[in-house]
Amino acid sequence: MFRIVNKILGKVSISLQTTKAYNKPVNAIFEMSNNCNLNCPLCNSGSLRRYYKHIQRGCMNFETFKAGLDKLLPELESILLYNWGEPLLNKELFICIEYANKNRVKTQLSTNMMLYTEEIGKKLVETELTKLIVSCDGISQETYEKYRQGGNLSKIIEGVDNLIEFKKKLKARTPLIEMQCIVFKFNENEMAEYEKFWKARGVDAVNFIRMSFMSKLGKDISLKLDYVPNNKEYQPYHPYGTLRKCDSLYNHVTIDWNGDWYTCCFPSGERKYRVGNLVSDNFWEVWNGEKYKYNRRLLKKQKSEGFYHETTCHDCTGIYPRKETNRYWN
Ligand SMILES: C[S@@+](CC[C@H](N)C(=O)[O-])C[C@H]1O[C@@H](n2cnc3c(N)ncnc32)[C@H](O)[C@@H]1O
Repeated sequence: MFRIVNKILGKVSISLQTTKAYNKPVNAIFEMSNNCNLNCPLCNSGSLRRYYKHIQRGCMNFETFKAGLDKLLPELESILLYNWGEPLLNKELFICIEYANKNRVKTQLSTNMMLYTEEIGKKLVETELTKLIVSCDGISQETYEKYRQGGNLSKIIEGVDNLIEFKKKLKARTPLIEMQCIVFKFNENEMAEYEKFWKARGVDAVNFIRMSFMSKLGKDISLKLDYVPNNKEYQPYHPYGTLRKCDSLYNHVTIDWNGDWYTCCFPSGERKYRVGNLVSDNFWEVWNGEKYKYNRRLLKKQKSEGFYHETTCHDCTGIYPRKETNRYWN
């Protein structure tokens, strides 16, 4: 009931682009760890980490997770347990999944699988993680490691096979396993083969996604490394300099490993964009505080007024273009 009313209020707030939100968020990111064990060339937790030395790094502990989640219940419906880092680095991950489940919140992880063990597979099934996204951008070690630098494709194949086997043994429906491939120029001709390979092994879904430059620096690197695919459907979408209507300001929160609160996934860790701390601050004082109100007004009126707060909205590197816009990277 709470959730139905909350959703209706959310729809009204979004369609009118109200300055105050009359609902609570329905989905959230909880960054389990913003450290990573791979060196993906466009990622600020990976190869670009040296340019982001000012970002504090760590793993979210259960206390922070629980205190944060409790503030979003009972309206919150689903969470992503990752943002920029590798969630399997977090030793308290499984108690967090269990706690979310107990509170009827769906859970999703995205992982590079390098830390996967049979023991981890068992816990993913036992704690009833809803969905596991496996990041794998190639069908041979040569193509795969062009982006996932430091990764090992055989380890992914072994891990996924093990998890499928274990699910079968326990007759478990979850976690749903989704193989995710970012489409780059170097792998775009492998898409059919990739899909055939993973479907034959028994994964639940194969998902090809649009690449993102992730940042302006990432754009230069992508062009230098010739990453942008020819297929326009998968070319990065970067409406730099535009302000888009954004549902995230009404239905989403991004929570960093230390409880710091951001309006969306992109500025996570950059303190100038931080709007509060979900654990130590009062929820409504932040959710309808000056910073959020400024942001919502900015996107509605397309100009900045009164109180000023630094946002990334002008530089949004959103991966998915909205229907009403069609500006691509070039
Ligand atoms: C930054 S990763 C962190 C989670 C985990 N370490 C992983 O590799 O899945 C979060 C998600 O971003 C995706 N991702 C990474 N680089 C990307 C890019 N340049 N464009 C689009 N998505 C990207 C990953 O595939 C993953 O699903």
